[in-house]
Amino acid sequence: MKAISNFSDYQELTQLAENDPQSFWLEMSQKLSWFQAPKIAYQGDFHQANVRWFPDGQTNITLNCLDQQMQQNKDKVAIYFEPNDPKEEAVKLTYEELSQQVQECALALKSLGVKKGDVVCLYLSMRPELLISTLACARIGAIHSVVFAGFSAKALRERIEDCHAKIVITNKTGLRGNKNLNLLATVEEATDGLNFVEKTIIYHRPQDQVQLKDRQLDYNQWVAAFAGQQCPAEKMQGDDPLFILYTSGSTGRPKGLVHSTAGYMLWAKFSFESVFQMKSEKDLFWCTADMGWITGHTYFAYGPLLNGVSQVMFEGVPNYPDASRFWQIIEKYQVSHFYTAPTAIRALEAAGDDYVKPYEMNSLKVLGTVGEPINLEAWNWYHQKVGKSRCPIVDTWWQTETGGIMISTLAGITQPIACHATLPLPGIRPILLNEKAEVQEGANAQGHLCIAQPWPGLAMSIWGDQKRFHETYFSTYPGHYFTGDGAKRDQDGNYRITGRVDDVINVSGHRIGTAEVEDAINLHPQVVESAVVGYPHPIKGQAILAFVTTLNEKQELDQEINQYITQEIGPIAKTERIIFTAHLPKTRSGKIMRRILRKIAHNEVEQIGDTSTLVNPESVEQLINQFHN
Ligand code: PRX
Repeated sequence: MKAISNFSDYQELTQLAENDPQSFWLEMSQKLSWFQAPKIAYQGDFHQANVRWFPDGQTNITLNCLDQQMQQNKDKVAIYFEPNDPKEEAVKLTYEELSQQVQECALALKSLGVKKGDVVCLYLSMRPELLISTLACARIGAIHSVVFAGFSAKALRERIEDCHAKIVITNKTGLRGNKNLNLLATVEEATDGLNFVEKTIIYHRPQDQVQLKDRQLDYNQWVAAFAGQQCPAEKMQGDDPLFILYTSGSTGRPKGLVHSTAGYMLWAKFSFESVFQMKSEKDLFWCTADMGWITGHTYFAYGPLLNGVSQVMFEGVPNYPDASRFWQIIEKYQVSHFYTAPTAIRALEAAGDDYVKPYEMNSLKVLGTVGEPINLEAWNWYHQKVGKSRCPIVDTWWQTETGGIMISTLAGITQPIACHATLPLPGIRPILLNEKAEVQEGANAQGHLCIAQPWPGLAMSIWGDQKRFHETYFSTYPGHYFTGDGAKRDQDGNYRITGRVDDVINVSGHRIGTAEVEDAINLHPQVVESAVVGYPHPIKGQAILAFVTTLNEKQELDQEINQYITQEIGPIAKTERIIFTAHLPKTRSGKIMRRILRKIAHNEVEQIGDTSTLVNPESVEQLINQFHN
């Protein structure tokens, strides 16, 4: 099937996918390399939450990312690695070099007895070894579980225990701006006493020497034994799991979303190609996301490699050594397609135009944004100051669960509209439903965003908890996938995402469950109870506001409470503000009225409504006053 090159291709593919999805996706699957081509596109349905893609096909994602690329892109640079410290040497890896290093790491994993279906946990900062070891897992059919190297030892341990990882790979020191994170110490604390973790593999730079302990191996020595050797790709069924990625939900502990081999791969390839439209051999992609998040999986690790393009990998942060770092990198490598998050855009805008002005960035063709709604001011700044009003912005809406971009402008093909994700990709059928599950139609429809038809990128399950998968995503609106987002649709079918409608907060594009933060706060011995909500923040998009009651009313425990959060989750989940109160607004049955707290935090007190049924209506007025003090 042809790639989308103009608007009529887009319309044609959309129509074909709607008329006969089975045939459409089967034909689309011919874009991939297979050991054995599939005869079935998908089985199962949303009612059962059991959709399986290409179950009778056999492939391996590295067959497509690496072996397939040896034909035309052997000497092409796959990765330009830009270290955190601009003075440190930048490294290039061609597709051939990347492929060789992945195979050596794959053999090293095999030498430890790692086999198809085993889980390997990767807790590394953004260095080439993270990409190499991730692909090495995929090469041998091991399931990778990358954990963002900013999560605490407790959060890491919880994830390692949940997926029962046999091996953990880390790097000694994670460099982020002027911070040196001792990742090895975090791994040691996280795995202490976990006997099922057989080995920890440690990558370190020459200057960071490591004294190896029991069950620890040095990454470089470990792979050196296999230098120059080949490791053929393991044959995977289309619906074998490829990876687990943990994300927060509105209730309970983080859930390990499981993505499949072939469906995920097709969606990563197709969505990347369709949205970004990288056409010229000179084009260079740069996605600033860390591999600890889904964006780093799909539009750093897999999407670009599946499409044989060159890309930048960046270890650092946007404001180190100063707020011109992104623009310097764009000029240094001549980046043509740049993909980042609104929170980074807002932070760089706030740093002042002097940082961006000196950079012409003539190489730029397309700008992308992801992770949270982008406000008009940030959109305009990105468009004018970074893209010099020449580059279309693709505002890409999607989620960890969806595997890849679902609703987005296709660069140069469909029309961008400020702050709108715009149109769905072919094969995606969004639908807006109200709380009574009635379909919202018409010129200015608004409702809960659901997807009405299976697509290849959707996660298969939650690791070890199919019931929770069904309940979380398919029980609110039976027969539909419920995204947890609200959206509006205009008369031309363009979508604008308005944000989460559940208890998930999006802080700097990071998904944080309010329940997880409350659990951490409640561990403080002086805390009686707490309620956490999100509220608007000029840089972070949303910030965390906690309402806390303590044993001693007068106590101010901000620092100590944030210490608990840092220990339980990581610094990304720290509160912006804590309001200490003697009483939280409650119903007569004792339920905390988080809806009211959200209204206070959003300054929408006129929408609070009748409070007379609360046990303590006076608490509302008091909290409004405290919030404004
Ligand atoms: O609320 C939506 C928001 O991010 C959520 C998904 O978060 P996560 O699974 O961490 O994945 C982030 C990267 C894909 C969504 O439910 N979101 C993501 N992209 C956008 C967005 N909100 C508005 N506009 C977007 N472009």
